[in-house]
Amino acid sequence: MSSYSQLFAQHLDTLQQRTRDILQQQGLSGLAIHSGQTHRIFLDDQDYPFKVNPHFKAWLPVLDNPHCWLLVDGVSKPVLLFYRPVDFWHKVADLPNAFWVDFFDIRFLTKPEQVADHLPADKQEWAYLGGHLEVAQLVGLGQPNPEAVLNYLHYHRAYKTPYELECLRDANRIGVRGHIAAKDSFMAGASEFEINLAYMKAVGQGANEAPYGNIVAINRNAAILHYTHLSTQRVPDAERHSFLIDAGADYHGYASDITRTWAWRRGEFADLIAALDAQQQEIIAEIKPGRRYSELHLQMHHRLARLLQATELVDMSVDEMIHTGVTNVFFPHGLGHFLGLQVHDAGGFMQDERGTHLAAPEQFPYLRCTRVMEVGQVFTIEPGLYFIDSLLEPLRRGEQGKRVNWNKVEALRPFGGIRIEDNVVLHGDGVENLTRQAGL
Ligand code: GLY
Ligand code: MN
Ligand code: MN
Repeated sequence: MSSYSQLFAQHLDTLQQRTRDILQQQGLSGLAIHSGQTHRIFLDDQDYPFKVNPHFKAWLPVLDNPHCWLLVDGVSKPVLLFYRPVDFWHKVADLPNAFWVDFFDIRFLTKPEQVADHLPADKQEWAYLGGHLEVAQLVGLGQPNPEAVLNYLHYHRAYKTPYELECLRDANRIGVRGHIAAKDSFMAGASEFEINLAYMKAVGQGANEAPYGNIVAINRNAAILHYTHLSTQRVPDAERHSFLIDAGADYHGYASDITRTWAWRRGEFADLIAALDAQQQEIIAEIKPGRRYSELHLQMHHRLARLLQATELVDMSVDEMIHTGVTNVFFPHGLGHFLGLQVHDAGGFMQDERGTHLAAPEQFPYLRCTRVMEVGQVFTIEPGLYFIDSLLEPLRRGEQGKRVNWNKVEALRPFGGIRIEDNVVLHGDGVENLTRQAGL
């Protein structure tokens, strides 16, 4: 057996054990996990791109085949109902032939409704996990998406198996290839649209396979946090200032989520990128089992406040800057989030396997993770420093406005902003930075 299959065998053991545990807790007999179905565009004869149910791809890397099912009870060999219709309009999935096939009892469906022939007699005691409740009802699966089951699975999903870590390493290796190509493309004068093509070519994945919409932002566009427009305009060299790219890649259903910011020329903005990069590395070095992610986020605000002081952007004490919300103006989003099957992976607010929710602190409403950090978890760490007009304006008019060096802000506005985002694993003996070790 190759080491990859060994890792996968161990991964399935973990999923089987989690399945046994939650079925027993809930008095259920099994889980029927639906890969999903496509969604039709209103008044059209085309579908939106298919996105597989994350609970399905947790078990095996089949990402592009609707109408498939997994029937798992935590004990028997998992049953995979694999959809292969007779269809001359669309590509029919190839016969499964990969490292994972021996781990499943594979049966074929040529029509979606044939799932009914494979469901057990006690299907009322089986939970349906999926996004199509009408299908669950139609085939008589009695327990659609039980909250206790989802909570349990989402909570435990934070602890990645060695197989999952290997997938996340590969997702980073692929993403880093794209980031290097994108930087070269920016430096060669390309438009946002052209840079995105260079990225997709280097990773070998198109927009539908990407774990999220690429953010490819030149100049002021870097101040728009979720800028996914792709301008075809080439910006002349004299007007080129900065480039922010937030783009990931998929490997076997696992996501990387990476951001880099580049300056076109040396100067104050380039220095600011270097300073934030150093702060990002230092905050990563502070990650320890037992610390709460929200506390790390607060520490990042301390670091940012000191940076705003050192660069003479703001003349206030660190505590005052944080308590009056001035650091929020420059860094309005969270420090990061769990990463895995989904780019914002589930479970970030869950304090236990029953799903007890700890909301983000009132002061930091956009933080996506309030959980205690533990060995086996994977996070992004993505501090930012931006010049966002709609946040700067109220600051300028308010009490703290007098303490801001507006000439300096004005000089940096054309650059938009900075974000540096790495993907890290917390191990017993330290932190592994998946992004940096892949060469970025
Ligand atoms: N790319 C989305 C994020 O960084 O959270
Ligand atoms: Mn992120
Ligand atoms: Mn990102």
